[in-house]
Amino acid sequence: MSLAEYRPGLADVPAAESAISDIDGKNARLLYRGFPVEVLARESTFEETAWLLLKGELPRQKELADFDAQLRQRRALHFRMTDMFKALPATGHPMDALQASVAALGMFHSTREVSDPAGNWESCLRILASVPTLVATFHRVRLGLEPLAPRDDLDHAGNLGYMLTGKEPSPAVRKVLDACLILHAEHQMNASTFAARVVGSTLADPYRVISAAVGALAGPLHGGANEEVLDMLEVIGSAANARAWFENAVATKGKIMGFGHRVYKVKDPRATVLQDLAEHVFAETSRPRSYDTALELEKVALPVLGAKGIHPNVDFFSGIVYQSLGIPKDIFTPLFAIARTAGWLAHWLEQVGGNRLFRPEQIYKGYAERKYVSLDERA
Ligand code: COA
Repeated sequence: MSLAEYRPGLADVPAAESAISDIDGKNARLLYRGFPVEVLARESTFEETAWLLLKGELPRQKELADFDAQLRQRRALHFRMTDMFKALPATGHPMDALQASVAALGMFHSTREVSDPAGNWESCLRILASVPTLVATFHRVRLGLEPLAPRDDLDHAGNLGYMLTGKEPSPAVRKVLDACLILHAEHQMNASTFAARVVGSTLADPYRVISAAVGALAGPLHGGANEEVLDMLEVIGSAANARAWFENAVATKGKIMGFGHRVYKVKDPRATVLQDLAEHVFAETSRPRSYDTALELEKVALPVLGAKGIHPNVDFFSGIVYQSLGIPKDIFTPLFAIARTAGWLAHWLEQVGGNRLFRPEQIYKGYAERKYVSLDERA
């Protein structure tokens, strides 16, 4: 590629050197710091995975215990943050509340000098610990309910489930939530991670960095597809309707939500794990009709779309899992953000660790220099 060549969307243009995660889109492999994501989803916890992403290695026992304790200590919000949520419109989207409140959180904490490694680590702890509380507090406040104080006797996933639903999750549900957080924690140079690195490269503090990344994730081309999958499955209505619906979608060149990916040309490994997790959840809840519709849709779509390298992506099953846990649709993308905060922070640390300000070029397509015409002389 010549340096002057313009690639819309910066497709295939490396924007950073990174050691955090790697994707092999032909062989359905996603590695966090060298470890396959499906192994982490099965064997690890979100706390351990977050440490791995942030520090580069799996933690030793004491490191993990200290990290876990430090996160638990930092979950509670200043009462003024709760007041702020009360001032926001209850009809507002939770992603907007999250973006605004992460930025506001930075106003309460003074560790904003990004050349200080100890301060940077404190910010990582504070942000990772607080983001679930921000989402859950806005959710409760908009429903007219009193916010729940975070529980320090529960781990990250358990406390998140508790604060969102008001019920302590069963061990099986906690495990599913934890695995969902792990599966969404990192995915190399996607739009929100790039946004985080660009803002980080200005040496803005990490609250501003994560706030920008949340804004990028909120767009429907990035974080919003799992909501649309559920809408689509509701429209299809039942497994019996899937074939006719699909044939009509193909004939009218409609997109099948939850299918296709810029990088994966086979079934997204995260979709495979989520499908397995869904079966576990349904053993506890009940098996929703949308799941059978999704399975049938996948079956009828495979011969047509599979041949073009279009397969289920991570969003195809995640919404069904969240819905069966009683989580409302507009909290799906905030859950993605809660998980991805670990990856964003890892990229921020990597960026500031060897920083150069992002300042790309453009190809100018406008006028050459021309003469200013005063207002009364303009035709
Ligand atoms: N359903 C039907 N056809 C699809 C499709 C889908 N979900 N995804 C891609 N295609 C087709 C396109 O129509 C296009 O066909 P054409 O060449 O005949 O015009 C071809 O595949 C390439 O699609 P394109 O959108 O250019 O691929 P991309 O790599 O830029 O897009 C996505 C990737 C994710 C944006 C795209 O697959 C999509 O919109 N999927 C649905 C939304 C979704 O699930 N997003 C979550 C991603 S994790």
